[in-house]
Amino acid sequence: MNESRTLTQGKVWAPGRVNLIGDHTDYTGGLVLPMAIDLGTTITWQLTNTPSRFSSDVDDVVVALYDEPQSSHWGRYVHAVAQLLEQRRHKSPQILATISSTLPIGSGLSSSASLEVAIALSLGAHAGTRDEIIALAQLCQQAEHAATGVPCGIMDQLIVLAGQSKHALLIDCSTLEMTPVRIPADVKIVVQFIAPRTLAGSAYADRVAQCARAQEIIGPLRSANTTDLEAIDDPTVKKYALHVITENERVQEFCSAMTDCDFAQAGLIMVDSHNSLRDNFAVSTDQMNAAVLEARAIPGVYGARMTGGGFGGCIVALADPDAKIDGLIVEASNGARLLE
Ligand code: GLA
Repeated sequence: MNESRTLTQGKVWAPGRVNLIGDHTDYTGGLVLPMAIDLGTTITWQLTNTPSRFSSDVDDVVVALYDEPQSSHWGRYVHAVAQLLEQRRHKSPQILATISSTLPIGSGLSSSASLEVAIALSLGAHAGTRDEIIALAQLCQQAEHAATGVPCGIMDQLIVLAGQSKHALLIDCSTLEMTPVRIPADVKIVVQFIAPRTLAGSAYADRVAQCARAQEIIGPLRSANTTDLEAIDDPTVKKYALHVITENERVQEFCSAMTDCDFAQAGLIMVDSHNSLRDNFAVSTDQMNAAVLEARAIPGVYGARMTGGGFGGCIVALADPDAKIDGLIVEASNGARLLE
């Protein structure tokens, strides 16, 4: 990404994401396979002599960067990102910025990570090298924690920055190694919106805490196996850990199946993942379970699962291009960038 500050105006774009498999694994250093999508957040900006201000096309609110951070919901992200950039001694330019988005808000497609990254780029943050991408993803992850109190992992912010056209990214959240996995042209990825959700105030933070408890007993879940679970007495913690250990395995198996173009196998692994999120990790909903069942019954649909944090949001399906499944067909997109 090039330096933009010699310009007096510009435009940045940051995608949303859909996670193909590997949910509730990132915050224990596990494996995930998200894909940046062709819906996202655009911010247009121009330099100004007055302190920076952001407005959005969703409401009439104008957020000045250094006002009290009460403002609108989206305004909290502006404040959080700007403050963290400042703490890193990044000197933000003074801009008048307008935010618009093609992502449904609160639908589990990472509208907030997309917004955080777009804000950071509009304020002149760099994300060219791998190290810059990782550092900016971590800053935006912290902004999410600060703005919402949700102790999310790194997956969403990293894929928003590092996404690759025609590929999902296998991310090892221990090392932050990223390996592109090609999405073959003879399948389609379909997203179905089920219900609005927010992870703030949900049981997300509880799952993070319970996984941390499991790790206190048996060490990193990333390197644990199911035999290690015998050391965990609490049946709930044991089930959560079971999900994480087996989900890490499923991510690897899914990547192999996609590389071999074995879509039937990939679909079965998606369904196993959904069932584990439903039965072991208890983050699915009746509506999502019903939608997954319905999708799977459609000829040409290889598999489907809930995607993201759960408690609502979306399901994702892997299907033959001719399958008659409702929903949004998403294309794998490049990560965030300066448009002009
Ligand atoms: C949310 C979080 C991510 C990840 C997923 C579940 O999207 O932001 O860090 O934990 O839930 O996989």
